[in-house]
Amino acid sequence: MGHLPTPLEQLKNLGANLGCDLWVKRDDCTGIGFGGNKIRQLEFYLGKAVAEGATQVLITGAIQSNFVRAAAAMAARLGMGCHIQLEERVPGVSALYRSNGNVLLDQLMGATLYSYPDGEDEAGADARLGEIAQQLRTRGEIPFIVPLAADQPPTGALGYVDAAQELLTQGEEFDEIFVASGSALTHCGLLMGLRLGGDKTPVNGVCVRREAGSQARRVQQRLDDLAQLLSLPNPVETKDIGLDDIALAPGYGQMSASTKEAIARTAKTEGLFLDPVYTGKVMAVLIARSNQLRGKKVLFWHTGGQPALFGYADAFASHDT
Ligand SMILES: Cc1ncc(COP(=O)(O)O)c(C=O)c1O
Repeated sequence: MGHLPTPLEQLKNLGANLGCDLWVKRDDCTGIGFGGNKIRQLEFYLGKAVAEGATQVLITGAIQSNFVRAAAAMAARLGMGCHIQLEERVPGVSALYRSNGNVLLDQLMGATLYSYPDGEDEAGADARLGEIAQQLRTRGEIPFIVPLAADQPPTGALGYVDAAQELLTQGEEFDEIFVASGSALTHCGLLMGLRLGGDKTPVNGVCVRREAGSQARRVQQRLDDLAQLLSLPNPVETKDIGLDDIALAPGYGQMSASTKEAIARTAKTEGLFLDPVYTGKVMAVLIARSNQLRGKKVLFWHTGGQPALFGYADAFASHDT
């Protein structure tokens, strides 16, 4: 369902500002349901759902989750129902955060919404989906759960093993790649796909959810799981796991002044929109590190998420652009 391959474009204005040769991989343009990285991941989950004859898809995420919105769009295209559990993962949010952006889209697609009070309990959130699935079975439905917790196979990362291989066919080589690292399936798939393809480009994972030490453990574990899923030895060395958490504060789903500034600067110089939770933080890191990137050819991997901007309008209202 994804519109692939996604374009690779040069960001000449912003690159000139920062003193590097800056490019963007447009995974915000994967097509269906406003696109983003999660489309590549969901191709594999929903392929499994189709093979199992599923009639309903169940998924959990933050209230402004792009993953759940993308799943609802793909489920609709496949003629399946979608059940979305929205977790309280971000403190002190506005009324717009609860109603606009991705939430509005989830509702337009007719998804059934549930709320979950804890945003840091991945196993509990998955277990609750299991209970909803059980109720659906009693009504004769065939449910399929897209799991969140790291004890499940990293199926979604397969989409990024393919994405890395796609990049290697696009005829450009880079000195550095920057990408968001949340559940880590995008980061792990990319690293795995590049190294399996014999490419050694450094991949800088930008922490959006956990500080660098704990994210490094998650990436390592998920890489081992991914190698097992592929039945291959893991070609990624521990020193290859690059993580930067300077843009994480004040926390998941919350923007610092430098993240807002990165979003505004990219919009003004390139007419390119970033999101408040993931790609805005990646660009904030890239800008903060621009002295070290001087003269290099740098790839910013855009993973989408722009619908969330409309849930964060209040946060931008206080930003002096
Ligand atoms: C727009 C966007 N970028 C990046 C990510 C992070 O991807 P991953 O969870 O694979 O680390 C997400 C995850 O929800 C996302 O929605």
